[in-house]
Amino acid sequence: MLAFCLPFFFVLLFSTTSSQADTPTDHFFLSCGSSAATYSNSDQRYWDGDQHSKFMPSNITTTSFSSHPDNLDPSVPQIPYSTARIFNTCSFTYTFPVSSQGPKYLRLHFYPATYSGLHTEQSFFSVSSNGYSLLTNFSAFLVASFMAKSHVVKEFLIYVKDTQILNVTFTPSPNAYAFINGIEIVSMPEHLYFNAKTPKYVNEYTGPVINMDTALENVYRLNMGGGQITGNNDTGMYRSWDQDNKYIYGAAFGLTPTYPSPIMYTMETPNYTAPELVYQSQRSMGNQSDKYNLTWRFPVDSGFYYMLRLHLCNIIQEYTKEGDVLFRIFINNQTVEQEADVIHWTHGSGYPVFKDYIVFVNSNGGHRSKQDLWLAMHPDPNSDLCHDAYLNGLEAFKLSVNGNLSSPNPELSPDHLQPSVLSATKGEKKNPPFSAIFGVVGGCLVLLLSILILIVFRRQRRVKHHSTTTNKSSWGQTSSVTILRCRRFTLQEIKMATDEFNDNCSIGSGGFGKVYKGYMDNATTIVAIKRLNPSSSQGPHEFLTEIVRLNILCLIFNL
Ligand SMILES: *[C@@H]1O[C@H](CO)[C@@H](O)[C@H](O)[C@H]1NC(C)=O
Ligand SMILES: *[C@@H]1O[C@H](CO)[C@@H](O)[C@H](O)[C@H]1NC(C)=O
Ligand SMILES: *[C@@H]1O[C@H](CO)[C@@H](O)[C@H](O)[C@H]1NC(C)=O
Ligand SMILES: *[C@@H]1O[C@H](CO)[C@@H](O)[C@H](O)[C@H]1NC(C)=O
Ligand SMILES: *[C@@H]1O[C@H](CO)[C@@H](O)[C@H](O)[C@H]1NC(C)=O
Ligand SMILES: *[C@@H]1O[C@H](CO)[C@@H](O)[C@H](O)[C@H]1NC(C)=O
Ligand SMILES: *[C@@H]1O[C@H](CO)[C@@H](O)[C@H](O)[C@H]1NC(C)=O
Ligand SMILES: *[C@@H]1O[C@H](CO)[C@@H](O)[C@H](O)[C@H]1NC(C)=O
Ligand SMILES: *[C@@H]1O[C@H](CO)[C@@H](O)[C@H](O)[C@H]1NC(C)=O
Repeated sequence: MLAFCLPFFFVLLFSTTSSQADTPTDHFFLSCGSSAATYSNSDQRYWDGDQHSKFMPSNITTTSFSSHPDNLDPSVPQIPYSTARIFNTCSFTYTFPVSSQGPKYLRLHFYPATYSGLHTEQSFFSVSSNGYSLLTNFSAFLVASFMAKSHVVKEFLIYVKDTQILNVTFTPSPNAYAFINGIEIVSMPEHLYFNAKTPKYVNEYTGPVINMDTALENVYRLNMGGGQITGNNDTGMYRSWDQDNKYIYGAAFGLTPTYPSPIMYTMETPNYTAPELVYQSQRSMGNQSDKYNLTWRFPVDSGFYYMLRLHLCNIIQEYTKEGDVLFRIFINNQTVEQEADVIHWTHGSGYPVFKDYIVFVNSNGGHRSKQDLWLAMHPDPNSDLCHDAYLNGLEAFKLSVNGNLSSPNPELSPDHLQPSVLSATKGEKKNPPFSAIFGVVGGCLVLLLSILILIVFRRQRRVKHHSTTTNKSSWGQTSSVTILRCRRFTLQEIKMATDEFNDNCSIGSGGFGKVYKGYMDNATTIVAIKRLNPSSSQGPHEFLTEIVRLNILCLIFNL
């Protein structure tokens, strides 16, 4: 029966061709399962429907059908997530006639849900494009759960060679179904990522190059120290840039200075490289810089090379000349820059630069498919000038191996939140209803008014408290587990531990406010106490997200 399942070719002629720097560009936004073109308020774009196109074969209904998620989370944009195309019999191919050869973004949008009675746990499928294997036996549900998100956007970068066609084939795994909510195809400047300037190899003299035979997957794109940048505020390529907060390792968040002036783009760093908003904000170490490493930790699939692009721009007014700030950059604990000097690399403040590094992430003999990729910075201890280090933005890409980018689905550890629980925390960025917060922090939350205090315990074995009696359960499962883990502190204890929030006890400050070092239990236990400053740009929602993410003991006080 399967032998008759020939793939279909859907020719979509919605490409808008415009002339920018002499190269025609492609913008396809396809809302799968939708019958008409629709304007999306959330991203201010028109998305074409894939259903009633006259280029669709008339027998489309025998190999696929359109459907709606049984329940769409209110925080998720209606378009393209409120419709889907489902394939449960055989392979299905979309064919996009791109206007020219060259590198393209292919973005696939997935909202895992029950579709027409098909449960999301039963969806496993493979996706290939122009001969590259992008996803194998992929479960959007497992990936979304791992990332603690309600929807998944997979961004691939594919170099279309002379065929001028980009095809995308969905193949369900045996006894499973495939689905897709939206497909985007956008072209990019020829040398932005492919055949760009030579990268540095971490721990190796040489390694793979990114050329027209490589497929890339963007795994992280972050605006360090700044806010989320949506696709519309990108440089015309609809990339979204996320906040870096949740990837910071440890309690040291540093400072987040901003820059009010325009960014001075150059030939080496043209204006499409990254939006001004990326370079106009950064995360720096502040004057406690000698005491810690500014460190981020990124879970990635092992067994692949990754390209890390660091975006740097000096925006701190006090640093004016070469040699003022020298810092070390470590990738996976290897020194990749001994004396990074951003002013030396550029023409001065406000001039951006990016640096590429390629690193192999092995599985370290472990059986887990995910490994952490570490990025850290520290002032050059030999420099007796300003001790600081900073980063403005980061992009991380996975490189294909023999045309394959697939990895096994992530294994959900008990520490991963279930999406059902997360739905209580997400989407309320602006004004979180307190009921949602109470739901997440459960019994831990006593009261919330203007000041929040968070106690972070290093989970030392020698510390005897209630949590040692619970096994490692998921925060997501029940709030009763959360309650068991909680030790309650009185305000008096916290004040004593920090000598009444004495500035001498302050070990750093971040987006939320100051972090204090304190001693508890007759000075046998060292704690970090984070105090949310009510004037902080980040509100209670982000603060609570951090609590949940760090999986730490917490107590929130009413002052
Ligand atoms: C669907 O129709 C196309 C032509 O319109 C034909 O080539 C293909 O074999 C048909 N597929 C099935 C499964 O009937
Ligand atoms: C997709 O395109 C590639 C090359 O561009 C081609 O080899 C492959 O056969 C195409 N697949 C389908 C299903 O059309
Ligand atoms: C992003 O772009 C929108 C218009 O598309 C604008 O209203 C908004 O202010 C921009 N956001 C930032 C942070 O600049
Ligand atoms: C980059 O500069 C060119 C002119 O030099 C301009 O046309 C284009 O809109 C700019 N792009 C962005 C993203 O600012
Ligand atoms: C550290 O910086 C903060 C503000 O950035 C300032 O208030 C404080 O006095 C500085 N401390 C030292 C020791 O320079
Ligand atoms: C880097 O160092 C940290 C401890 O600082 C360690 O946990 C981690 O495993 C190291 N990473 C690698 C890739 O060696
Ligand atoms: C910073 O990281 C590097 C590389 O992992 C390590 O050698 C160094 O000891 C760390 N420094 C601090 C202060 O943690
Ligand atoms: C790609 O890699 C995945 C996971 O390693 C594997 O299951 C799959 O068979 C590979 N696909 C191809 C076409 O080699
Ligand atoms: C697909 O992935 C799931 C979960 O990761 C696994 O249980 C299943 O055996 C895989 N199926 C195939 C055909 O590899």
